[in-house]
Amino acid sequence: MPNIIELKDVSKVYGRRIRTEVLHNTNLSIEEGSFNSIMGASGSGKTTLLNIMGTLDKPTNGQIYIGGNRTDKMSRRSLASTRNKNIGFVFQFHYLLPEFNVIENVLLPHSIKSLFCGRKTREKAEQLLELVGLLSVKKKKVYDLSGGQQQRIAIARALMNEPKIILADEPTGNLDSNSAESVYNIFKDINVQLGTTFVIVTHDERIARKTNRIIEIKDGAIIK
Ligand SMILES: Nc1ncnc2c1ncn2[C@@H]1O[C@H](COP(=O)(O)OP(=O)(O)O)[C@@H](O)[C@H]1O
Ligand SMILES: [Mg+2]
Repeated sequence: MPNIIELKDVSKVYGRRIRTEVLHNTNLSIEEGSFNSIMGASGSGKTTLLNIMGTLDKPTNGQIYIGGNRTDKMSRRSLASTRNKNIGFVFQFHYLLPEFNVIENVLLPHSIKSLFCGRKTREKAEQLLELVGLLSVKKKKVYDLSGGQQQRIAIARALMNEPKIILADEPTGNLDSNSAESVYNIFKDINVQLGTTFVIVTHDERIARKTNRIIEIKDGAIIK
């Protein structure tokens, strides 16, 4: 399989006067359709690495390729469209809109592209809710659901635009071990069924061990 994400000699420095170099000449390739985890101590640069992969943050030096296209020099506009088409994000805090109901939250990525939501779009949102086991609560307000359920809604939302890549930053960090297991199983199903590439930052060794590749980062350098 070709590489869907490539980082070449990437470094990241925060701050001008007091410089913190978080990544140093990092090289990393993620194969299309692969299922990866990133592990490392708190402060080692995992979030920085993931945000740079996801084009949410720019590197100080180096090149980023998504699907073979170089993104670090793209205009904000083409970057936003490349990101919207290719990448879905799942964060530790789900960032759902609490006043909206479940299906409205799943439809959000579509609503950003176009205000019109036709029957097909709603059907797709319902299929995704079925995939994460929440179709029966589609009309409920998000704040009436448990943490595990909310995270599953965030996963359905991340899949709405059929991204080729899902980047997840400690997605099970706030969940009990049963909910964490179920989130992991949903990720694995999506990976197998749809061929979606996954990169999951996690502290949970049980989850990391089930991925095909563990990327270990220490003080901003990939050590394994
Ligand atoms: N916006 C920022 N400005 C300055 N320093 C930052 C910023 N974001 C992260 N850092 C620093 O970069 C290092 C790595 O952070 P981060 O990537 O969040 O690590 P991790 O996700 O592994 O805990 C930390 O020392 C952190 O304080
Ligand atoms: Mg982090």
